[in-house]
Amino acid sequence: GKGKYDHYMLKEINEQADSLSNTLGGRITDDGDVDLEEFPRGTFDDVDHVEFIACGTSYHAALYGAQQLQRTGIRATATIASEYDTATVTEDTLTIAVTQSGETADTISALRAAQDAGAETVAVTNVVGSSAAREADHALYIRAGPEIGVAATKTFSSQVATLTLLAHRLSQDLEQGTAREDNEEFFAELQNLPEYIDEVLETSTAEAVGEKYLDKNSYFFIGRDNEYPVALEGALKFKEITYEHAEGFASGELKHGPLALVTPKSVVFSMFTGENGEKTRKNAEEAHTRGADIVAVTDDADSVHEFADTVLHIPETHPDIAGLLANVQLQLVSYYTADLLDREIDKPRNLAKSVTVE
Ligand code: F6R
Repeated sequence: GKGKYDHYMLKEINEQADSLSNTLGGRITDDGDVDLEEFPRGTFDDVDHVEFIACGTSYHAALYGAQQLQRTGIRATATIASEYDTATVTEDTLTIAVTQSGETADTISALRAAQDAGAETVAVTNVVGSSAAREADHALYIRAGPEIGVAATKTFSSQVATLTLLAHRLSQDLEQGTAREDNEEFFAELQNLPEYIDEVLETSTAEAVGEKYLDKNSYFFIGRDNEYPVALEGALKFKEITYEHAEGFASGELKHGPLALVTPKSVVFSMFTGENGEKTRKNAEEAHTRGADIVAVTDDADSVHEFADTVLHIPETHPDIAGLLANVQLQLVSYYTADLLDREIDKPRNLAKSVTVE
């Protein structure tokens, strides 16, 4: 049941420290190596590039994951499953389907196409024995526990965490793979992630932020690097459960078109969690000049006070992990906004938890 929570979505957001501990449990050794029992050393010796296929929230996790693979020197792309094309598949391709349910028709169909074209395949999924898990050559479970709310929350975090582990494992097998320079720090911080998430959950002012901007008519989300998939995910979650107009952009793209949409009736959630904060600051300032309210997601409130109307604080951590903390703040903003608007949060109109048609 939902326990003390009004909705499964809020319960699942609040479960994220536990579900992530489960995802990571036993998979990182004391000396900072990754141990995935599914994949003994050498499993991927023949692979020379990696492609992710996924839909919706899982696609955003896949984009984040592809960036993490690139950090370890691996050629990786992420493609929306319904747009997948096998033209560049060879027998050295590793195709990774990311799907919470393991039953999404678009994703299964792309997975089959990849197999037919000769790729080796992995399903990264939450559901043991699901179609994706059965059909792929290998299954890697995200171990997030059942998710009831239609809007995916805790499973996004677990998908991204799983893909960062997989990135490290692949870097050991693939010829072009290299360990991250900051390996030790990264894995130490990854293991601290559940603790940081609890801190966000305990201190978040997302409810007040939701209330403050209820009368706006457009909600934009911007970020760069791993904040970009989080911006897409923030906007998807927001539109899905509030039914308000929301869009996610790469920060740098704002000036290439979307800025025309920005008015005093807009609010721009801007992420400052990585090393390119100065550039995002300029983008946010442009929106601020057009009268938009800026909500900065940052670990350093002092650095944004000149243009940010509101701050959502996250603990300081490794930049590749900070995107996940920002995402939890955005999940909470979407939840509380939808709750204030009295939406049917766990079952948004027109949507299904598992989409079994193409
Ligand atoms: C959004 C959401 C959907 C799913 C998408 C893929 O909150 O839940 O966008 O992420 O339908 O579902 P799976 O991961 O089961 O393949």
